[in-house]
Amino acid sequence: MKFFIDTANTDEIKEANSLGILAGVTTNPSLVAKEGVDFHERLREITNIVPGSVSAEVIATDAEGMIKEGKELAAIAPNITVKVPMTLEGLKAVRTFSELNIKTNVTLVFSANQALLAARAGASYVSPFLGRLDDIGHNGLDLIKTISEMFYLHEIETEIIAASIRHPQHVAESAMSGAHIATMPLKVIEQLVKHPLTDLGIEKFLTDWNKANK
Ligand code: E4P
Repeated sequence: MKFFIDTANTDEIKEANSLGILAGVTTNPSLVAKEGVDFHERLREITNIVPGSVSAEVIATDAEGMIKEGKELAAIAPNITVKVPMTLEGLKAVRTFSELNIKTNVTLVFSANQALLAARAGASYVSPFLGRLDDIGHNGLDLIKTISEMFYLHEIETEIIAASIRHPQHVAESAMSGAHIATMPLKVIEQLVKHPLTDLGIEKFLTDWNKANK
């Protein structure tokens, strides 16, 4: 499983990229709005930092509008992936993007049927939202497992992005459930590194070293 960062903040993207584990970036309208910057300009900056897939979401709700916006987004850089919401209009747009060889990430996926439809429309990625399912008392990880088994059974090549990741447990379990990618905030990436025994171990090594080298 690969790591994407879920943010539109360039400092966070640079920090995650410096760790040597970053394979891509996802953004959404809420994350971009938080930055208060020009959307296209910010995407240009992000695509210059990260060579992997950078998801940029359309705002239009009709297929025609999505296609127009998506073409403009895709023209910013070759590593832009157009993020499209899981709707009937979204599916029409995904089919068109697929014929134009523009990569797509179908977002706001909450059921296996939605994932199957997105894949059959030609989506490059589907994004099931774990945390938001957990929030309403469902099990987000079960959905990842079902989609993963379904795609395997039907030899579907669309990649699964575990999204709406809230904590480290989501990450390892997404990997074990068959997600190809997990996208998460910088805070969660940093939490993955932490273990109290690692910190204690470093402290002890340094204490012993300093005692011997007084
Ligand atoms: C994924 O592409 C989305 O941007 C994201 O993971 C949503 O996460 P949230 O539910 O924490 O807002």
